Amino acid sequence: MNIDHIGIAVKDIESAKLMYSKILNAAPYKEEIVEEQGVHVVFFKSGKETKVELLQGLHSESPISKYIEKKGEGFHHVAYLVEDINKEIERMISEGFQPLQEKPKKGANNKMVFFFHPKSTGGTLIELCMPIA
Ligand code: CO
Repeated sequence: MNIDHIGIAVKDIESAKLMYSKILNAAPYKEEIVEEQGVHVVFFKSGKETKVELLQGLHSESPISKYIEKKGEGFHHVAYLVEDINKEIERMISEGFQPLQEKPKKGANNKMVFFFHPKSTGGTLIELCMPIA
């Protein structure tokens, strides 16, 4: 599985955007509000296939805002690109990993996404993502 992106939780997406433009020496290529997930996201390309996803919560009830409150800004999740998300979800669950939701949801960047609880994956929030055909 290729890594599709690394998710970084930020408090102020505008200043994070400026900082990552310097880190990656490139401008962001996509920006989007995902109401269902309560996030404002900005994507940068890092190499050919991998992206960096900056996430800011849209409101205090957003999972990202809650995460930052608890753990602070920074690394949030790693997202693996899969071809058949339902098959991978089934496989991961059969391996004993704990899902954070029942069904894949529409996420950012025109993808279906699904998360596994960091408690079951050694501390890392894992996202599976699959492009919406
Ligand atoms: Co993500």
